[in-house]
Amino acid sequence: MNRVVFLYVGIVATVIVSFAGLVSLPEIQLRDLAPIVGENGEEYPVEPQGLVLEGRRAYAGLGCMYCHSQQIRPEGFGSDLDRGWGSRRTVARDHIYDAPPLLGTMRTGPDLVNIGVRQPSDNWHLLHLYSPEITSPGSTMPPMPFLFENRSLELETPYDALAFPPGVVEEGTLVVPRREAKAIVAYLKSLNASRPVPEVVQ
Ligand code: HEC
Repeated sequence: MNRVVFLYVGIVATVIVSFAGLVSLPEIQLRDLAPIVGENGEEYPVEPQGLVLEGRRAYAGLGCMYCHSQQIRPEGFGSDLDRGWGSRRTVARDHIYDAPPLLGTMRTGPDLVNIGVRQPSDNWHLLHLYSPEITSPGSTMPPMPFLFENRSLELETPYDALAFPPGVVEEGTLVVPRREAKAIVAYLKSLNASRPVPEVVQ
């Protein structure tokens, strides 16, 4: 009988200690995190809205986070900073508007938390989404032509048609991004975790 009580107390204690350590403590540590307000009233981070928010949903829906992380480890915990993925480690504050967080678990491709700074060109992102081989020969990222429309029969070139490098597609091919592609690019360009934060002494 004594053993049963002992076992029971052990199980309850394990659950309580785990809950305190994994749920309550982080909640106490992080619940007061707020955006930083700069001298000119500018806030960091900015809550995603409009096309950026749409892009974030499409990013999650297409499973980009199964190949891309959005978290840069501190110095001494890997080569993230040496690879040029960011200028500082990421902190919890970077992700306060990330619900659900898209931190990612695997890195088949590079970390994207700072891709808006690293690659600011719309056309580059669109070409890369249409067919990663065009911008990054040998890429294993899946092409996503379904995010684009072929408009080969149009007389005038639409203003937003992709500008292909010479020799990649047949002459006269007109490919236009759908709204979802534009939204993903708006989201990617909004990813910028380079602002100095008090948590990281640089
Ligand atoms: C199967 C894995 C995989 C998936 C899914 C995937 N990627 Fe990639 N991605 C890669 C790899 C590998 C690279 C590196 C080669 C290259 O640039 O294409 C990459 C590169 C990139 C880059 C360029 C990064 C840099 O530093 O130059 C961007 C931007 C990107 N991916 C965005 C996306 C988006 C947006 C999605 C979802 C719509 C996505 N990826 C889905 C594997 C993936």
